[in-house]
This record gives sequence, C-alpha cells and structure tokens, in this order.
Amino acid sequence: MSETRQIDYVSEIERMKAEKNAVILAHYYQTGDIQDIADFIGDSLALSQKAASTRADIILFAGVRFMAETAKILTPDKKVLLPDMNAGCSLADSCKASDFIKFIKDNPGRTVISYVNTTAEIKALSDIICTSSNAVKIIESLPEDEKIIFAPDRNLGNYILNETGRDIVIWPGSCHVHEEFSLEAILVFKKEYPEAKIIVHPECELPVRMVADFIGSTSALLKFTQKDDGKIYIVATEAGIIHQMKRSSPYKTYIPAPPKDSTCGCSECSFMKLITMVKIYNCLKNEKPEIFVDKDILEKAQKPIIKMMEISEKLGL
Ligand code: 13P
Ligand code: SF4
Repeated sequence: MSETRQIDYVSEIERMKAEKNAVILAHYYQTGDIQDIADFIGDSLALSQKAASTRADIILFAGVRFMAETAKILTPDKKVLLPDMNAGCSLADSCKASDFIKFIKDNPGRTVISYVNTTAEIKALSDIICTSSNAVKIIESLPEDEKIIFAPDRNLGNYILNETGRDIVIWPGSCHVHEEFSLEAILVFKKEYPEAKIIVHPECELPVRMVADFIGSTSALLKFTQKDDGKIYIVATEAGIIHQMKRSSPYKTYIPAPPKDSTCGCSECSFMKLITMVKIYNCLKNEKPEIFVDKDILEKAQKPIIKMMEISEKLGL
C-alpha cells in the first residue's frame, strides 16, 4: 500500500491545526467534506469578518484567491495559506487594473464601489468594498445624489441599480457560473414541481432574477430555506451551498438550477473545486502556498475593506 493511502487526512489536518494554531475558513461553494472540517463556513462577508477577528497564527483559506487575499490584507501579520494558487475567479479576472484606471478616468467624480470578488489592485483603486450580502445597504447608506461606479459584476450591479434607483455606472464583468443558469431548464423544473420556490444569487442574469421568489447572497439563500415554510427549492447559485441547506433542513428538497449547457457541469465553480482535502493537508504541512500582497497595494486596499466592515457593523450586518 502506498504511503498516500495510509494517511488519515482529516485527523492529520485536525492535529496540525492544533499544533500550529491554524484555522480553516471555508466558503459555501467548497465540497461538503471540506465544509465539514472547517472551523468556520460562510459567505464572503462573514469570512472577511472572521479573518479579521481570529486569534490564530495561520489562516488556511478553503476558497478562492481573492478571498485569501482579503484575509491577508486584513491581517498582514498572519500567515495566510491557499491550497491551490490556481483557484482564481472568472469575475475577478474580468476586471484588469490598467483597464479599470481608464474606466475611472472616463467616469470622473464618482465613488468607486467594488465587489470583494476583485484583485487586491482593484481594491486599492476603490473607495468602498462590498459583498453580495451588504451591497444594497452600503449603497443606500451613501447620500442620495452620490454618483457611483460599481465593479466588476454587471448582474449584481444591475440588481443594485434596480433596488436603489441610484446613479450607477457598471463595469461589464460576469461570473461564468452564475451567467450559465438556464431560464428554460429552471422553468421545466418549476412546471414539474409547481410548489418549488426559485431562489437566486444576484450574480445571475435578469431573466433568471425575474422568476425568483427570493434573491440573496449565499448566506441569505441559506437563511431563507431555514425560515421559509416551503418544502422544495430550485437553487440558482453554486451547488456547494446545498450541503449546508441539507444539514440545517434535511427534510426539504433542493434542486440545483441547471446550466444552459447540460453537459458542462458549469453550475459548479471550477476554481472553488480545485481545493481538495489532500491539497489542504499538504498546504498545512508545508505552510505553502502562502499569499503575499505588495505592501503599497495592501495598505491602499485595506482602507476600502475596513470602510465596508465599519459600515456593515453600523448596519448590524
Ligand atoms: P457570496 O458573497 O454570496 O459569498 O458570493 C461569493 C461568490 O463568489 C459568488 O459567486
Ligand atoms: Fe468567482 Fe463565480 Fe467562482 Fe464566485 S462562483 S468564485 S464569482 S467564478
């Protein structure tokens, strides 16, 4: 038997966590086995808040790079590890710093609000960061006549624009998972299960948002299934969240919304799914790959993230 086969990854990870004073923070889009070994599971906002408050010396991020970078920016003295550096984000990739500088120049006099799904460079160019949990509330907290640039998700941007009626110029980026849900396939399920409620992440396109019974961030969708008296849900976000929905309300039925191309498996985030138990084990053992952010960018990016945390705290989010 090979050495690899003999390792009990879960107990070894537990042992190393205690020995190294490390915590594992996992996003809801991670696979169920990884969510089960995490010290804390959450959406982007909750994970940032947890990273900022942890007393651990090492934060291992079971998520994607922009999330681990945000943790590093908030806790520069801690060691932040990401088990696979290729765990990127198509949305963050859709907004390059050089293009964004030009976009800001072309739209002068506007407050720049960027979604947390951005690189550290984009955060450093922003006035306030937001997540899907607090975006609408953050924008509503600003004076009504304040002109805004929102980046990089056009669907979330349009959703915020509709909700707030504010003057917002939107960067045309998108997420390859949330743009792929098929309205037609969702409606086929809805016909089959008329009592099903359609719950949708705001990164989805307008036609899918229009048929939603509820729109919200991953944590808001989870809370909705916990409090709502329905029994069946068609879930239009990355299917990883269904693990927590099943854990908290096991007697309900959750149907992952199908993608436009039924052969592509693209309702799963291929970046999130790069993180595996074996990679977490190796990462914790070797304490690498480690996240580093250029000092100047880190200092600039810290301000808009802290602003988000302060506004969120004030609003009780
Ligand atoms: P949340 O803000 O709901 O965690 O979403 C993060 C994300 O990557 C959505 O695709
Ligand atoms: Fe990025 Fe989309 Fe994956 Fe979220 S689901 S991490 S936005 S690629």
